Amino acid sequence: MKKIIIANFKMALELKKSLKLIEEFKINLEKRVNQNTIVICPDYLTLGYLASQKGSKRNYPFYLGAQSSGHLQFGALTGEVSSFNLKQIGVSYIILGHSERRALGETNQIIREKLLLVLKNNLRPVICLGEKNKQSTVKTKLFIKKQISEIFFKLNKDEIKKTIIAYEPIWAIGTNKACSPKLANQIIDFIKNYIKERYKINIPVIYGGSVNDINANDFLTQNNIGGLLVGGASLSWSKFKQIISH
Ligand code: PGA
Repeated sequence: MKKIIIANFKMALELKKSLKLIEEFKINLEKRVNQNTIVICPDYLTLGYLASQKGSKRNYPFYLGAQSSGHLQFGALTGEVSSFNLKQIGVSYIILGHSERRALGETNQIIREKLLLVLKNNLRPVICLGEKNKQSTVKTKLFIKKQISEIFFKLNKDEIKKTIIAYEPIWAIGTNKACSPKLANQIIDFIKNYIKERYKINIPVIYGGSVNDINANDFLTQNNIGGLLVGGASLSWSKFKQIISH
């Protein structure tokens, strides 16, 4: 089945290196038939540079995504970028509520406001959820339920239908200690069922947190996991190539 594989470059690279990596992805992905949906999320500067290119240079064998967007369409929001403008430059996906943004003060309420705009601007949101520390699955499920209820508060079925959820246990992000594929599958099963019962729809739920070229296959072969959100391992084509080829 088709999976969604998202590369999150975070703020890891110099602009020159980021552009070089994108070029490497482009050249290599053009050469291969890949049945997965690939989304590359570099930083805003890289996105802006790519948008300034002309003609066929702007055709990519993957979708472009942003790592966040502002919670107002336009206005006094120093340092933020409007999802309207991101749409204008060819972005298709927006990561929302990443734990590294939550650590800077982003709440479920702010994420909800961003989500409404992302949907209004016809972009696909990828909403990150997940617990901070390792804990019992009962506690994790309760915590995730609360995150979903607050972020989807008063959203309708048609809006929720367009969203993708990324289950990212914070303790697994950037630690090289991924969640076990079985546990991730179990939590994702819970998320999918909760959404199904509450909103009567089926949405893709992907996993993120220390995914690499070695463990990717173990996640992708789990029946509930709809794809991957990859941070560190997306910064190398040779690793990412392995991840997407499963
Ligand atoms: P990681 O990051 O793959 O480096 O753990 C994942 C993420 O933060 O989305």
